[in-house]
Amino acid sequence: MRKQVALVTGGLGGLGTAVCRRLHQEGFLVAATCSPSNGQRHAWLSARRDEGMDVLVVEADVADDGACANAVARVLAETGRIDVLVNNAGITRDRSLRKMAVDDWHAVLGTNLDSVFSMTRHVLEQMIERRWGRVINISSVNGQQGAFGQANYAAAKAGMHGFTKALALEVARHGVTVNTVSPGYLDTNMVRDVPPQVMKERILPGIPVGRLGAPDEVAGLVAYLASEGAGYVTGANIAINGGQHMC
Ligand code: CAA
Repeated sequence: MRKQVALVTGGLGGLGTAVCRRLHQEGFLVAATCSPSNGQRHAWLSARRDEGMDVLVVEADVADDGACANAVARVLAETGRIDVLVNNAGITRDRSLRKMAVDDWHAVLGTNLDSVFSMTRHVLEQMIERRWGRVINISSVNGQQGAFGQANYAAAKAGMHGFTKALALEVARHGVTVNTVSPGYLDTNMVRDVPPQVMKERILPGIPVGRLGAPDEVAGLVAYLASEGAGYVTGANIAINGGQHMC
């Protein structure tokens, strides 16, 4: 049987790399998008090859619908199918609203939420044709609880929940599931950018498990949602945040 194909947006980042690795271990052929300005692409690919992984990397500004269409077409041309889409690409531009520029709003909404619309729209038809698909949207604890300085990011991440539930209703009868995973603060570069004092005094004390999450812990959950066995889970949001926010 031909291998199933998983496409991970922002696949070269901290969480994206862990998700690519885990899906490869589960037997998927893995493709990843990376931003055109990502200078790490060749080093990343060579590190993956050293681990025995062959990942198809396509450049795409996922905030741009045309670029998403091209990226999906390129992956389909190389692999013939996309069974699993992980909408993982995300950026932060943290500032209190009084200081937030219009561009900070549009950049974050574009990369974190418009991308989910565009990528999903472009992969969906061929999933429906095969009557099997998994769309997994990586949201955030801050889409549920908000965060000081993240009106843009929290709005984008909260927007994913409505998108997930609406689309889950539309495609359940076609064998496609749509779910959201909401990680808390993970040990990645994105979180390392939080000022140390804010992390120590305001964020860590609010995490009952007492530590940052490991990207691998979230990747395991993504792999479950991508599996055959998760066919009855759809329209769900699964929190994985060390107890920081419970609802
Ligand atoms: N809670 C309450 N008050 C805070 C605060 C917080 N978390 N952070 C800052 N403040 C206070 C400041 O101490 C300051 O108080 P004073 O006026 O009394 O001095 C006031 O708010 C204004 O602070 P600033 O002028 O410094 O505000 P700013 O617009 O420059 O923004 C910030 C500061 C960039 C938001 C900075 O606090 C920060 O980076 N915070 C971390 C934000 C965060 O958690 N980001 C998550 C990134 S990781 C991620 O997003 C992944 C994920 O999904 C979880």
